[in-house]
Amino acid sequence: MSKTAEAYFFEAFAGMGRLGPGSEESTRQAAERAGRQDEALRILDVGCGNGVQTLQLAQLYPRATITGVDNHQPFLDTLQEAAAQQGVGQRLNTVCASMDEMDFPDRSFDLIWSEGAIYVIGFERGIGEWQRLLAPGGTLACSEVCWLTGSPAPEAVAFWQAEYPQIASIGAQLRQIGEAGYTAVEHFVLPRSDWEGYYSAIQANLDRMSAAYPRDEVAREVIATLQNEIDVHRRYGDQYSYAFYLMRR
Ligand SMILES: C[S@@+](CC[C@H](N)C(=O)[O-])C[C@H]1O[C@@H](n2cnc3c(N)ncnc32)[C@H](O)[C@@H]1O
Repeated sequence: MSKTAEAYFFEAFAGMGRLGPGSEESTRQAAERAGRQDEALRILDVGCGNGVQTLQLAQLYPRATITGVDNHQPFLDTLQEAAAQQGVGQRLNTVCASMDEMDFPDRSFDLIWSEGAIYVIGFERGIGEWQRLLAPGGTLACSEVCWLTGSPAPEAVAFWQAEYPQIASIGAQLRQIGEAGYTAVEHFVLPRSDWEGYYSAIQANLDRMSAAYPRDEVAREVIATLQNEIDVHRRYGDQYSYAFYLMRR
């Protein structure tokens, strides 16, 4: 019997560590640039998924307490289990909530982190709404998809217009940061290799699903959607990436 499209999407991401473009090295670089790694910071990781970067943050900030927020409880269960195994469970709290309805008190975090997730509500809205959660002098560190060229290929433009029309140049995103009332501290572009690990894991799942569901229309549509995303990146991955932004309140 056919499953829902959502169930097939989760199947396409099954068994993966990171659920978006990124890498241990990029997380490390962003943390180094954010600084204060030896302080007992209160960190919020928004859209933490199963928490590959959350666990790394626990290592990079050995005195910090970390709150991971995601709206998919099974990811949070995976994260809690791994945190307990790594002996950092005491410093980790997980909250199943939507990132546009986080009811933490104002100014309750020193560092807000979000890798490959702010797109869910949009970069401008996310940085605007989350600002109230930052203590004065606090930092928001997040990655967001951006154009690397002023003249992207029409096929790449069409793909992003359909998927995420808010995609913008780094210059435009830096302006949005300023307009939201932050000081842009630093930014860097994720290397192409940060996408390749992510897409090769999805590709392996898609290949398995193609063989498993040859005549399932719902599955075929999910597979085609994700395959198109991978193929567009193969052709035009030098024209867009994620940029990791660090901004201060
Ligand atoms: C692309 S994944 C990135 C996960 C993780 N940060 C990483 O890099 O591996 C996006 C995450 O956002 C979560 N998400 C989607 N909609 C959400 C919402 N409205 N509120 C909170 N989390 C959400 C998903 O469950 C998923 O874990």
